[in-house]
Amino acid sequence: MKNKCIVIGVSGGIAAYKICTLVSSLKKKGNDVHVLMTKSATEFVGPLTFQTLSQNRVILDMFSVDFEVDVHHISLAKKADLFVLAPASANIIAKVANGIADDMLTTTFLAATCPKVIVPAMNTNMLENPITQENLEKCRKYGMHILESGDGYLACGDVGKGRLPEAEEIEDAIEGLFEKDHFLKGKKIMISAGPTREDIDPVRYITNHSSGKMGFALAKAARNAGAEVTLVSGPCNLKTPSGIERIEVSSAEEMAKEIIDRQEENDVIILAAAVADYRPKEKALEKMKKSDDDLSISLVRTKDILKTLGEKKKKHQILIGFAMETENLLENAQKKLVTKNVDYIVANSLREEGAGFGVDTNKVTILSINKKEELPLLSKEEVAERILAYCTKGE
Ligand code: CTP
Repeated sequence: MKNKCIVIGVSGGIAAYKICTLVSSLKKKGNDVHVLMTKSATEFVGPLTFQTLSQNRVILDMFSVDFEVDVHHISLAKKADLFVLAPASANIIAKVANGIADDMLTTTFLAATCPKVIVPAMNTNMLENPITQENLEKCRKYGMHILESGDGYLACGDVGKGRLPEAEEIEDAIEGLFEKDHFLKGKKIMISAGPTREDIDPVRYITNHSSGKMGFALAKAARNAGAEVTLVSGPCNLKTPSGIERIEVSSAEEMAKEIIDRQEENDVIILAAAVADYRPKEKALEKMKKSDDDLSISLVRTKDILKTLGEKKKKHQILIGFAMETENLLENAQKKLVTKNVDYIVANSLREEGAGFGVDTNKVTILSINKKEELPLLSKEEVAERILAYCTKGE
């Protein structure tokens, strides 16, 4: 996302400070960012801050005589590729839902024909008030995109819904809107990510080093390509990209259940999770106390989710698995392709620098029964896009 003209309308709310980070980041990525503020927004953040970050003049007054004669609200509305209203107070939402244009921000908003995103931020009761909800519904009906507010501690001291999402979440949603190539529109994709945890007792568990980054990158890229995405994730600290349904699981058994239950309804299933192959035979109900003796824990096999899906795969479905190896990479990956009846295996070696757990890059080879494509070292986002390119093949 660069070279876009992005207009950001800031209305009055303490969350306005978060928009400084958003403006700075969008600008750094090479976009032309313009900020419009309501009068009350200037009580929270000075226009000079936005002006410095955006390198564009912040216009507050429609009738100011000291800027170009050009009818600025119309020219800005015309050149905007996207209009983001954030934070959007209950008051400004009421105005834009009803076509009220009584300042520079609302006038430009009404004149703009580009996609519009509203990011509400307010007290929970104001947000849940049926009047605000009706206004948001109206905006939705007019084709505007509404970002979900976060839950948590609000500036007024209440705890509840109404928090402005963090700048990176807003940027992430904007990125999704700009993605032109919606080659997976109408498709349902399920992706697994992260590690699993197999409990030994209420205190200890067996897990692995998976960070979930590859699966989350796949989910985001699939969303950007227009798919309806379900992300079944083991325990990891990554934020859910906007517009994605996340199902949190802990053990391999829980992951298996959530995924297998949803097999039918998905067109593409990509299993990027590092699922435990074994779990403790018994989970102790109380904390196990140590003794001077050695301890052995009996482990039993978990269900192989990929193999189970492979056995019931429908003709139209595309099934993609991962193979992480430390030796005989392609040979082992090729075997998994056959034994698990999958369309593609994404093979990566833990021995390759920049590949595998925790890092932001990956180096993979994508194998099908009669083809293999070796990719260079790429960011996990790029790897995700290359994998998704296989999801329309054979149609
Ligand atoms: N997988 C799965 N269920 C399991 C274990 C793995 O669905 N219980 C999936 C992973 O999500 C991945 C693929 O199978 O897509 C390969 O996992 P990997 O652990 O590399 O291979 P395994 O089949 O478990 O074989 P091995 O451990 O012998 O390498």
